Amino acid sequence: MKKIILTMLIAGSTLLVADGAAAYAKCVGCHGVNGEKVALGKSAIIAGQDAATTVEQLNAYKAGTLNQHGMGALMKGQVASMDDTAIKAVADYIAEMK
Ligand code: HEC
Repeated sequence: MKKIILTMLIAGSTLLVADGAAAYAKCVGCHGVNGEKVALGKSAIIAGQDAATTVEQLNAYKAGTLNQHGMGALMKGQVASMDDTAIKAVADYIAEMK
């Protein structure tokens, strides 16, 4: 029984990581594979950024209320189609980056 629960836990967390990675795939071009790039010479480096901060920022971009470097509208386009689950998954994924 213990083994089954453990397997389920591992499978569950792998799925989460995979979702975050999948959601992040479209961000790679600007932010880098490991979030290490200054996107378009403007953004902060997002690697390892606290997940709560990222969720807040992405929701604000989605709402059109955040524009830190004059490129908020561009980021709005990036996150417009992401739901809360996808935003949380990608934020957790970014937080794990080094
Ligand atoms: C076409 C290039 C591009 C793509 C693709 C892109 N971004 Fe961005 N990102 C930017 C730019 C430019 C900014 C700065 C926006 C501003 O002016 O506030 C930014 C800002 C951010 C910030 C805030 C960083 C800061 O400066 O504080 C986060 C977090 C972020 N992006 C995450 C993502 C995620 C997650 C994705 C994929 C779903 C993504 N971005 C896709 C270019 C991009």
